[in-house]
Amino acid sequence: MSSALVGISPTPVEVPPVVHGLAARLRSGATVVPVWRNEYGGLTVRLGPLAAPTSSAPSSPYLKWVPDASPSPDPLAEADRLVWAGSFTRVPHVLDAGRDARGSWLLTAAVETDGEVATSAVEPRWRPYAERAAIAIGVGLRRFHDTLPTDTCPFVRTARMRVAALTTDASAPLDDTERAALDRALGDPPPPDRLVVCHGDATVPNTLLDRVGRFAAHVDVGDLGVGDRWSDLAVTTRSVSRRYGPGLEPLVLAAYGVAPDPERIAYYRALWDAEEAVRARRAA
Ligand SMILES: Nc1ncnc2c1ncn2[C@@H]1O[C@H](COP(=O)(O)OP(=O)(O)O)[C@@H](O)[C@H]1O
Ligand SMILES: [Mg+2]
Repeated sequence: MSSALVGISPTPVEVPPVVHGLAARLRSGATVVPVWRNEYGGLTVRLGPLAAPTSSAPSSPYLKWVPDASPSPDPLAEADRLVWAGSFTRVPHVLDAGRDARGSWLLTAAVETDGEVATSAVEPRWRPYAERAAIAIGVGLRRFHDTLPTDTCPFVRTARMRVAALTTDASAPLDDTERAALDRALGDPPPPDRLVVCHGDATVPNTLLDRVGRFAAHVDVGDLGVGDRWSDLAVTTRSVSRRYGPGLEPLVLAAYGVAPDPERIAYYRALWDAEEAVRARRAA
């Protein structure tokens, strides 16, 4: 999902009263520091005695709030995936999750390595070290795919399931011409290269690095599920180009340990774009 780091956003972010109210309920007296907003009204804030969102304060958790009926993945579904994945790999520890009439939320502990809070690879300080970050992102994705077991994973998200969900989404119905175009473009997915537990949104912003730029952890696993590994690889490589600039995709793939697969990359980027278009329609 395309989103903005609040710290580099041109417009200051107003934290809505509903998020302040929730923060007061979950962590009485905590300061509320906006960290990230996505384009569908979701807002992530950090709760705690912080001077700035990037400062190191291990006990300050992250609160993601998503308004009711947002097309973003449901924080409660994300909490289920975090709890499951947390038995096998490094993802944020779930402290609280819930829903009320206004929206849903997820409260997670800050991920720390060596006593310091790991921070997103999208932070501007990684731009001068984009090659290092690109390698860490490839290494991290490989670790994710190698570590999580497909045979016991309760979440499945194959290309065919995703295409079916697009064509049957009642909140963004397609007309006959659109459905035919979608079917032509995406109805015949390439056979899976290797089925793994995919992250589902393995972008630069959702990868955390440690203080020196090594892979630390993934966040934002609301779309985690078993699928072809190129579903993640296609999105990760494109995100690296978009966030850091051209020329780094071969580094990501080399760090992951795979040769480029142009057909699967093209297919899974097109599928991602079709889903993004539907989300935008639902939001409108
Ligand atoms: N537990 C956590 N530890 C460290 N950083 C976090 C944590 N949770 C969220 N973040 C930061 O907040 C950002 C937004 O959270 P995310 O779950 O990705 O929201 P969205 O679904 O809106 O993209 C992440 O990119 C990451 O920088
Ligand atoms: Mg995210």
